[in-house]
Amino acid sequence: MNRNLIIAIDGPAGAGKSTVAKEVARRLGYLFINTGAMYRAVAWQALRLGIALDDAERLGQLAQTARIELTGTVDAMAVLLDGRDITAEIVTPTVSEAASQVSAIPAVRRALVAQQQALGRAGGVVMEGRDIGTQVFPHAEVKIYLDATAEARAQRRHTDDLAKGFNSGPLAVTQAEIEARDQRDKTRADSPLMQAADAIYLDSSGLTITEVVERILGIVATV
Ligand code: DC
Repeated sequence: MNRNLIIAIDGPAGAGKSTVAKEVARRLGYLFINTGAMYRAVAWQALRLGIALDDAERLGQLAQTARIELTGTVDAMAVLLDGRDITAEIVTPTVSEAASQVSAIPAVRRALVAQQQALGRAGGVVMEGRDIGTQVFPHAEVKIYLDATAEARAQRRHTDDLAKGFNSGPLAVTQAEIEARDQRDKTRADSPLMQAADAIYLDSSGLTITEVVERILGIVATV
């Protein structure tokens, strides 16, 4: 099998992209790149420095100059910002919301997309996000749009949040937050979340992780 494919996995929050992308990468011996972590790193730094989440100029500069590293193995991924390990700090609901806001800024996207293209150019990579198949690698050999119902996504996120020790309140609140974030990600002017014309649509609502992974590996095998 071709060992240097680019596999793009896009979709809304809570569809299972990271879990699935990690497992696909592990099974193929590929690099796993979680692009959401890069937007989260910029958002985390903006919150820390008190930069307004709509200050395009300062946020663009921040995204240009921040040294974001995705290190470690598929099982123990770490996100470093200017050498500091911020892995645990960027998964909070506050950073999720802030990441969605800063990701709407074109200068932020330009800076991070360039880094993502450099990271994935050689292939042998599973990259997940919102615009991988449409903007980052429009010529990726495999493109998956992983979706799930709002109820299924909220339920997963709620369970994850509880496991991480966040008290995010009732399930209905998690669902409202996730729907608001997706609405922003789908309607922003620059690179909105959408299915690429040549992406394969998969709905993970009624499937296990293993079933989704097997389907993607089946698609990869045909390339
Ligand atoms: O995948 P995630 O939930 O960690 O992403 C956090 C936010 O970052 C998401 O709400 C939108 C943004 N994002 C993006 O705009 N483009 C990407 N390729 C990845 C994430």
